Amino acid sequence: MADGTSHDTRTLTRQDYLSDEVYELERQRIFHAGWMLAARADRLAAGNRTVVDLAGESVLLTRDLKGRLHAFANVCRHRGARLCDGRSDTAQGSLMCPYHAWTYALDGQLVATPHLDDEQVDKAALPLWAYHVREWQGFVFVSMAKDPPAFDAWMEVHCAELLSLARFQFGGLRVGAITTCDIAANWKIVVENYQECLHCTRVHPELVELVPLYRTGWVTDSERDDGGVALARGHSMASDAVDLPLLPGIGGADAADANSYYGGTIFPNGFIDVTGTCAIVSTLFPKGPHLTTMTMEFMFAPTTIEAPAFDPTPVVEFNELVATQDNLVCERVQQGVSSRAFEHGVLTEKDALVIAFTKHYLAARGPLG
Ligand code: FES
Ligand SMILES: [Fe+2]
Repeated sequence: MADGTSHDTRTLTRQDYLSDEVYELERQRIFHAGWMLAARADRLAAGNRTVVDLAGESVLLTRDLKGRLHAFANVCRHRGARLCDGRSDTAQGSLMCPYHAWTYALDGQLVATPHLDDEQVDKAALPLWAYHVREWQGFVFVSMAKDPPAFDAWMEVHCAELLSLARFQFGGLRVGAITTCDIAANWKIVVENYQECLHCTRVHPELVELVPLYRTGWVTDSERDDGGVALARGHSMASDAVDLPLLPGIGGADAADANSYYGGTIFPNGFIDVTGTCAIVSTLFPKGPHLTTMTMEFMFAPTTIEAPAFDPTPVVEFNELVATQDNLVCERVQQGVSSRAFEHGVLTEKDALVIAFTKHYLAARGPLG
């Protein structure tokens, strides 16, 4: 090619990052066709609900009083009002629409229609519209497809890196802190940035102190076959030494995994990061081609969280610092690729994971037009 690049060494195009048409195709063929990461399950105690925006669809997650998890369209069956606001609260066993007070049980059944008796409304025929929901090691996935892909097979194709970390027993962890931020960038730019470390020395001076390998621009250590990279100062991903207990799935204080960092993507919309003492799941909620909301859930062993002196602040602050540094460069890329001059960027050997993501994404999305 005239610029010396082949398809294997090209980023996605300006159109892929910016166009409403591409975003709509992503909604149809990726976000609303397969499974999307939605939240950690332990945030939903029995009787609670939370609301997530899955690529433009407001989804209500509930856990009924028998402990079963449900996902519904956040829409009242009466005249279509949005049922619940906000992200999370205690539902107290039912959901009441703010418009005419139709009320639903947490399993979606319509249970009350004020001023209208059974002759006038067939309640049994009007439950909330349900979506498919699956839980894997405490990760809640939702599919809005009528006939979703088989979950286990889908995980093998799209979440191989998460499956390779299953030994850390995420299902036994609990969320000890949550942060949320908006990134004025396309969700794919955020994923691509996660997949390379050529930016690390310049953008993350504090992180490369903790993970010296990142100074080389490599993301993985070719000398190791467990996918880990060494942490310079023990078990923790924090700038100050913090004395939190090891995660239950870690081999012990001297084991390689206690002093390592492991990471991976959860296609299409998540990352998992594990250190000796904390696992962090970052979930991307695309809000259109130009904006992505990211939630970080910081997971610890339950006994760690229950300890009176538990303080996740150093871990949260350090990871927020790194995320803020990343978000600024992602926004800078969004601004740059918006230039009429930009057709595509260039990928190198050290961008191998970005190249892999680009191929995976294009295969999942399919051709335009
Ligand atoms: S729209 Fe919900 S009760 Fe009328
Ligand atoms: Fe980064």
